[in-house]
Amino acid sequence: MDFKIFSLLTLIFCSYSVTHVSCDCYITLDQNESLRPKLYRNIGTRKALVHTESLSYRLNENEVITVDCETRVLRPSQFAGKRSINCKCSGNYIYIDNHNFNSHFLIWCDAVKWNLYESSKPFSWCPKPLASYLLARPLNKIYEYLAAVCYNFDQQQILNLHYAAEYQTSLYLYPNRLQNYSPSVEILDIPNKFIPHRINPSHFKNAEVREWMQFSQYENHSLIQDPILYRKSYGKLGGLLELDWWPNLRLGNWRLYERALREHIEADKAIYDILAGTSHIVGVPSFEGACGENYTMVSVQYSDNKYIPMYVWQYLKSVKGNGTDVVVIGVNSAFVDFYKEEKLIFCTDICHKIDWLKSARSSFRYKSLGLIFCCDAKEVKKAQHLEGFPLPIKPVVAVAQLPPLPSNPVIVKYDDFNEPITEDYADSE
Ligand SMILES: *[C@@H]1O[C@H](CO)[C@@H](O)[C@H](O)[C@H]1NC(C)=O
Ligand SMILES: *[C@@H]1O[C@H](CO)[C@@H](O)[C@H](O)[C@H]1NC(C)=O
Ligand SMILES: *[C@@H]1O[C@H](CO)[C@@H](O)[C@H](O)[C@H]1NC(C)=O
Ligand SMILES: *[C@@H]1O[C@H](CO)[C@@H](O)[C@H](O)[C@H]1NC(C)=O
Repeated sequence: MDFKIFSLLTLIFCSYSVTHVSCDCYITLDQNESLRPKLYRNIGTRKALVHTESLSYRLNENEVITVDCETRVLRPSQFAGKRSINCKCSGNYIYIDNHNFNSHFLIWCDAVKWNLYESSKPFSWCPKPLASYLLARPLNKIYEYLAAVCYNFDQQQILNLHYAAEYQTSLYLYPNRLQNYSPSVEILDIPNKFIPHRINPSHFKNAEVREWMQFSQYENHSLIQDPILYRKSYGKLGGLLELDWWPNLRLGNWRLYERALREHIEADKAIYDILAGTSHIVGVPSFEGACGENYTMVSVQYSDNKYIPMYVWQYLKSVKGNGTDVVVIGVNSAFVDFYKEEKLIFCTDICHKIDWLKSARSSFRYKSLGLIFCCDAKEVKKAQHLEGFPLPIKPVVAVAQLPPLPSNPVIVKYDDFNEPITEDYADSE
């Protein structure tokens, strides 16, 4: 070999080694966000989440990083199937258990993919004959549950969705009470089974309805409007979660509400199990056959038997056990002026008592941005006004079969929303 080239190569090699002799190690993550693990720095007995902007993380000598896959590790293949591995940088090598790897090393996880299943039994909050579906995935022989969908199959419309909303570094990811339900038949190819549909106002034969629909411009969008949740898990489900939104509500007060909720969740490290739903049917005023200012409200029906929901609501159930459980209700109608307000707002509004809504609530009563009001969950439960809202359950008197324990023989029963079943509801039937 030419001596000059040889020495040049040596020089390059040496300077390369010299710059790296400080024993850095790098973990490189996949381009594809859905395959990337979370990295945690180990500090004493605690783990701190690493916020990496770049696709590569540099470990210092002796630093230990926990690599955590939401699913399971795919690469390095020696650890395939594990959920979590510890990497230690030492003398230009990365050590995992007793294996060592060179100091630049690529790691990725199995993609998170949710399947849709029929539930083996209907959810207690999903009135028959509607369909109870689970979004779940098999993992190490058990199932993990993302959400529960209560779906009106005949009308091809969602009634409600039960899911969790948590702060971004939370380890709590899925709602509590789905373990009671198990997946049965899987439904493949979701976007082609649940086809998105936008109302075309020109298809209405009735001239009045056509004009009101042209005016109000309803649009199909997901029930999940939180951008983080939508992007992460709920964006690829076709028309499964969609409803016809009045744009003024969705882009007006509802957006302000969702933003305030997200800020509260991140700032206060709050976690909620949320039941989000729709209820009632939007009507438009009809002056036909009436004279003067008299009108009747007629329900808008399209595509044979689809309807636009009048209410969009969220029942926020605090998982941390502190704080009132509240129901936030949006009126999805461009025609609220044609109703008496006390008919629309059917429970005591407590938005002003919710601290984290401070930044958003000042416009909640502006009709042009879509009315929003908030109520105590107990009151909504008693009113039995919202479709698909968990019903009050009569207390069950527990009869002890064994000789009673010396103290506290009363067994507290819980309903599906982990509310103790108490005398509160006894008078509601
Ligand atoms: C990321 O990976 C998933 C699963 O393999 C795949 O479905 C998706 O299309 C990929 N995204 C990009 C941007 O490559
Ligand atoms: C609404 O439905 C149309 C089909 O009519 C679809 O192309 C569009 O993607 C849907 N919009 C959303 C936001 O899903
Ligand atoms: C409107 O309805 C009210 C009550 O139904 C009736 O008394 C009144 O005469 C009606 N007005 C007109 C202009 O028809
Ligand atoms: C709820 O949390 C607040 C502050 O986080 C605390 O002061 C209060 O005692 C808690 N209440 C209950 C019932 O745990």
